[in-house]
Amino acid sequence: MKNIYKPFKVNIVKIEDHSSNVKLFRLQKTKGNFLVNEKGTVFNPGQFILISHFGYGEAPFGIASSPFETRYIDIVVRKAGCLTKAVHQLKTGNQIFMRGPYGHGFPVDFMAGKDVVMVTGGCGIPPIASLIEYIIEYRKKFGRTYLIYGARTPSDLLMKDNFKKWEKYIKVMLTVDKPDQEWKGHVGMVSSIISDIKIDPLDAVSAMCGPGPMMDALERILRPLGISDRRIFVNMERKMQCGVGKCQHCTVGEKYVCQDGPVFNFDEIDKSWD
Ligand SMILES: Cc1cc2nc3c(=O)[nH]c(=O)nc-3n(C[C@H](O)[C@H](O)[C@H](O)COP(=O)(O)OP(=O)(O)OC[C@H]3O[C@@H](n4cnc5c(N)ncnc54)[C@H](O)[C@@H]3O)c2cc1C
Ligand code: FES
Repeated sequence: MKNIYKPFKVNIVKIEDHSSNVKLFRLQKTKGNFLVNEKGTVFNPGQFILISHFGYGEAPFGIASSPFETRYIDIVVRKAGCLTKAVHQLKTGNQIFMRGPYGHGFPVDFMAGKDVVMVTGGCGIPPIASLIEYIIEYRKKFGRTYLIYGARTPSDLLMKDNFKKWEKYIKVMLTVDKPDQEWKGHVGMVSSIISDIKIDPLDAVSAMCGPGPMMDALERILRPLGISDRRIFVNMERKMQCGVGKCQHCTVGEKYVCQDGPVFNFDEIDKSWD
């Protein structure tokens, strides 16, 4: 029988600094490629993996690379506590353990055919990045598509090297709280963003990843755009332990983030981010 808890070793084949406390790690299996599921993807955009480093614990991370990429998986790690500090010390050529992918991702089949507004902040970009890669692969299946990505300062925006590619397929709208002299994008989660978004609200969906300025984005952007709560999908981050619905560490109301999420319909959750 397959052991759902069993981690396997992966090689770190690339590390990139994305900000003062965030690094991207590219992970490859020690033998062969990652397996694809019945949908032809390695994972569903929005699913997470559990990463462990011996002696430092285990934690969930969203997957930032394309779900169609079988050679590697990218994770973007913010230095927060014990595990992530230790992971930040690792070098290319070192190994760590992973298990997964777990949970339910964004409902890409439901989202197909509709306009899409993605909203995220700071370190919430990884699952949204994999959703963008999915949309790009099936570009003709999706309607008008927007990414609104906010951060505290321009240097806190992650995955900057991807923006040029993404802009060829979708509208990328960047916003920061504290601009520097070179900044040409928006400042704050400003309502003026709305006038640049052209969607059919009755046939649009939104994908969000919190925490960050999500309630603000909801009030200032998604509600005024007329996207109903039923059509807003939120990727929730909660502390986890088992990752597979056994330990009750990750509850949101009566739901488990690891099993029922991490992506929830906005109608289903308690409407607060912590
Ligand atoms: C589905 C999911 C996807 C995630 N994806 C990413 C990702 O792509 N990149 C990334 O950097 N992190 C991600 N996280 C968060 C990451 O798992 C935590 O930061 C993790 O606890 C770090 O482990 P640590 O041992 O380094 O820090 P810990 O010692 O666990 O925590 C350090 C500090 O951060 C706080 N903290 C930890 N986790 C959370 C949380 N989920 N919400 C609020 N505060 C928290 C703790 O209370 C503590 O103060 C994700 C979490 C979930 C549930
Ligand atoms: S992490 Fe154990 S039940 Fe979700």
